[in-house]
Amino acid sequence: MSIRDRIISKLEMVGKEKPSFTPLIYKGTLVLIALAALFVPLMLVAIPYIPFFNDMSMQAKAKTQGTYGYHFDDEQPLLFSPVPGTLSRNADIPGDSISLEASAAMGNPVPVTMASLKKGREAYDIFCIVCHGKLGEGDGPVIGPNRFPAPPTLHSEAARAYKDGQFFHIITYGKNIMPSYADKLGETDRWHVVNYLHALRRAYQPQIGDFTK
Ligand code: HEC
Repeated sequence: MSIRDRIISKLEMVGKEKPSFTPLIYKGTLVLIALAALFVPLMLVAIPYIPFFNDMSMQAKAKTQGTYGYHFDDEQPLLFSPVPGTLSRNADIPGDSISLEASAAMGNPVPVTMASLKKGREAYDIFCIVCHGKLGEGDGPVIGPNRFPAPPTLHSEAARAYKDGQFFHIITYGKNIMPSYADKLGETDRWHVVNYLHALRRAYQPQIGDFTK
């Protein structure tokens, strides 16, 4: 074949060469691009919710509002129960049906000791002080115009006349707009507060009789 013929045959092949992409590959690529266009945004949305390292959430633990009992694999009982002193909101309150008047007969089972007074003061300073104030004058920080209505002073004649059981009753059930503290203070702690109320009263308004009792 002469050089001229070769050139001519080369030139004739131009345009007749197989295209490097077959139509099938073109279609396939288009389908892939379309899939990626769908998949990538989906992944971007889903990735934050895919727990890659979920050891923390899958560990044995007590969940809030959950029921205690078994390990998540349902075989090993959990070795912990609610923290001691945890009070159930629905706990039976002893003497539920006793009125404020009848509670006067309820004796105080917790002797007045320094330890009891300290616990009582601690609880008072956490739960009662906000309304009743440091000295029980009804001037706590949440009291004021457009805020919580002022409670009466704890040093009135009426308040002084309450028996221990009646203080206990008020802390347990609340009184009118004063809420119940039965779900925040255990029974013994309520009696500690009762003991402290007496100490508060005596310190605030000492009377001769206080020292002979
Ligand atoms: C949210 C505010 C608030 C808190 C907190 C509060 N109280 Fe009261 N308390 C009141 C109000 C208001 C009254 C008056 C209720 C009534 O008789 O209308 C009252 C009444 C009382 C009385 C009776 C006073 C009387 O003269 O009849 C006692 C005793 C008492 N509270 C003790 C406590 C103790 C103890 C605590 C803490 C465990 C406490 N309160 C927490 C608002 C509060």
